[in-house]
Amino acid sequence: MLAIIGGSGLTRLSTLAVARREVVRTPYGEPSSALVFGQIAGRDVVFLARHGYGHTIPPHRVNYRANLWALKKSGVASILAVASVGAIAAEYEVGDLVLPHQLIDYTSGRENTFFDGGDRQVVHVDFTRPYTEQLRERCVAAARLTGIPVHDGGVYAAVCGPRLETAAEIDRLARDGATVVGMTGMPETVLARELGVAYATIAVVVNHAAGRGDSALAISMESIVGVLETAMDEVRLLIDQVLKEAS
Ligand code: HPA
Repeated sequence: MLAIIGGSGLTRLSTLAVARREVVRTPYGEPSSALVFGQIAGRDVVFLARHGYGHTIPPHRVNYRANLWALKKSGVASILAVASVGAIAAEYEVGDLVLPHQLIDYTSGRENTFFDGGDRQVVHVDFTRPYTEQLRERCVAAARLTGIPVHDGGVYAAVCGPRLETAAEIDRLARDGATVVGMTGMPETVLARELGVAYATIAVVVNHAAGRGDSALAISMESIVGVLETAMDEVRLLIDQVLKEAS
């Protein structure tokens, strides 16, 4: 079964025919929200709102381990994560969709592994290619079919937030090779890998990163809200198409 983790602007999926909701208990505490099970294009899907249904949980307080564990326990084999990002690379416009192929983790202080010692064997997961290429390619193919423009590839910089960055921090991320910046990519991506769940991100550019483009002097929060609404319509269409194409 495929799971959709919805980020800012995507707290529900209008195309989902809801069958049931379930509050899943985990050894790591409570997930961000109840899991919503249903169907899109005749395929079973489960939806989880990363920041809660009322969008009240900030990125650094999301219980990523509980979320991922709950999905795995519910029979999820693949996750499409939707995340809003700021554009670092000049080639991205606000409203663009990016399917990153790499990430750099700048977060700290988050519970970022299931392999946390105790009486368990030490495990080091391979993370050379953090996103599941096959799932990413399914999204690229679905985007082509629907005519939704996407950037095939990108480097996601995961930062803690909740504050936005300084212009100098964004320059540093750019020098590191990052092309977009967001606050929720880690540890979500690695926890999926640890559980053996396929994972890809649909990143929605909601602003130019600090110091770039029209964010040269400041980032306007008001404009972000408007962008989110229109971009999420495209994301829903893209997800529908990914599911239609599922074999
Ligand atoms: N920085 C970090 N996270 C973000 C941004 C940003 O500019 N926009 C959306 N999420």
